[in-house]
Amino acid sequence: MGKVLEVYEYPHPVLKKVSLPVDKVDDELRAFLDDMLETMYASVGVGLAAPQVGVSKRIIVIDIVQDSEEGIRGEPLYMVNPEIIWRSEEMICGEEGCLSIPGQRADVDRHQMVRVRYLDYHGECKEVLAEDYLAVAIQHELDHLDGILYIDRISRLKRSMLLKKLAKERKEDEEETQ
Ligand code: NI
Repeated sequence: MGKVLEVYEYPHPVLKKVSLPVDKVDDELRAFLDDMLETMYASVGVGLAAPQVGVSKRIIVIDIVQDSEEGIRGEPLYMVNPEIIWRSEEMICGEEGCLSIPGQRADVDRHQMVRVRYLDYHGECKEVLAEDYLAVAIQHELDHLDGILYIDRISRLKRSMLLKKLAKERKEDEEETQ
């Protein structure tokens, strides 16, 4: 079992940094992978990237099956040094949210399928052909490793509306707790 780490929120500068590759998958890294997974489940997210917990390393975890209300957990994917090696021409558009931008959602265009190469929990080289929701989750989390948030992929107008709403809700939360 891992421990729950702090999730950094927009506009923390660590979210804008480009992450570095991991040298090797050892016990120390696996302990961090466990912490990332616990943090993701505790935050009710379907994916988490290392920069979101303040670590600029190329690591993501994903479980698109997880549903905390129902107590359901799927088979989590641990991806170390993930690389998209193929993208479909076909695109899909779906609503995305992010643990680092709480309470907000927006439609984002993504490739409908991607082929990803990565190191798994045991340091073995794996490939997966992902489609639809899983492909979207992988592209969203991989963006984090390059300092890109989903709000960087929507129009300037939509982004400024979303950020205004975020600021307003944060202010309301602050006032409530005072
Ligand atoms: Ni995110």
